[in-house]
Amino acid sequence: MSHKLLIIGSGGREHALAWKLSQSPKVKKIYIAPGNAGTSQLGENVAIPATDIEALADFAEKKKISLTVVGQDDPLALGIVDKFKKKNLKIWGPCKEAAQIESSKAFAKNLMQRAGIPTARFQTFGNYDHALKYLESIGAPIVIKASGLALGKGVTVCKTLAEAKKALKEAMVDKAFGDAGNEVVIEEFLEGWEFSVHAFCDGKSFKLLPSAQDHKPVFDGGQGSNTGGMGTIAPVPWVTSDIMADVSRNIVTPILKILKKDASPFVGLLYPGLILTKEGPKVIEFNARFGDPETQSLMRLMKSDLLDVLNASVEGKLDQIDIEWHKGYACCVVLASGGYPGKYEKGLPITGIEQAEKMKDVVVFHAGTKIDRGQLITNGGRVLGVTATGETLKAALDKAYAAADLIKFEGKHYRTDIGASSLASS
Ligand code: AMP
Ligand code: GLY
Repeated sequence: MSHKLLIIGSGGREHALAWKLSQSPKVKKIYIAPGNAGTSQLGENVAIPATDIEALADFAEKKKISLTVVGQDDPLALGIVDKFKKKNLKIWGPCKEAAQIESSKAFAKNLMQRAGIPTARFQTFGNYDHALKYLESIGAPIVIKASGLALGKGVTVCKTLAEAKKALKEAMVDKAFGDAGNEVVIEEFLEGWEFSVHAFCDGKSFKLLPSAQDHKPVFDGGQGSNTGGMGTIAPVPWVTSDIMADVSRNIVTPILKILKKDASPFVGLLYPGLILTKEGPKVIEFNARFGDPETQSLMRLMKSDLLDVLNASVEGKLDQIDIEWHKGYACCVVLASGGYPGKYEKGLPITGIEQAEKMKDVVVFHAGTKIDRGQLITNGGRVLGVTATGETLKAALDKAYAAADLIKFEGKHYRTDIGASSLASS
């Protein structure tokens, strides 16, 4: 059968998914809603926002889409999967109830506590005065999190009590993250190295992807504000098979079990963000979709046909397939607009991508880009993801950085230390 697919989202993740899916001999056509300049080279962009789930369902029905792939988190939280299923449309992703594992930190924390999953100690507050009193009683370092979805920006890691009080007031009183801050989670600061694990899930079983590591702060050395992610490596050389087995047994298995029992079986991609503490891996958060930019590295490593995996996931047949991965390493260096994650300019011309992609093992994924009267221009905070593969992590990083240098736009900013702290253990 030849498939017509619809991918929902507009970031580097969606370009990477479209890139991988377009390699499947079974795929006839890919639509991306709303997509970016990169996805328009692989399929047809559709001008429907990722959150207009009604219009997306109508589109999928009209175009006889054989599988819809949800990249972004907000349509999941809005119940896109439930909506499509009601119309008998095939869609890959968790239903609204299961997606709460990401959309409500309080929900996730509660399930983790009940399932005995290792995570930071925490308390949830809906009342500012109570939250403040608690904060004063335990002091810093401490982490303040808006409970709802806040585009990755609702979390403040506070080194001092003064910082923590300011963050709490911003979230709960000043409503810096809107309604996401009506409820706040105050949690223990976990010390250790961060990594993430992605798992394809089919409601009954799951398959892990290689480990990955994002770099969230905007500047080298982990300085500056947190962003959506400035670059990734995969696999992470210090994440041993024992650690992956620990994550599989003590984190992924029990969360899927309790989700199935108390909410709804999880179908789609489960992505726990983790910290490797002295006591072993602990969960910082669960995401209910692919990470971005993690996916840009992971898709470069995937050997199997992604369409087969997604179909097996939707059909509850993951245990019947093997997923193959290329040997070696992949990395992604994000080229961001000057000023990101704060204010930045849009509409600046971009050059050099073709040259960069002429380099062996380099693929450039688009995130915040668009084409305006034939000219490629910047259109977001994270503009491009320069990915490369290599036999060693160093080889992959060297290629990605050489390619990143060839790409120009005014104000271009990127971290120069992606993967650097892992080189010694690779
Ligand atoms: P999140 O949006 O929950 O992924 O949090 C954003 C970032 O804040 C994470 O990637 C971590 O670097 C940091 N973070 C969150 N929770 C904790 C914690 N309990 N201890 C230490 N760092 C944390
Ligand atoms: N890379 C972080 C995220 O996708 O949430």
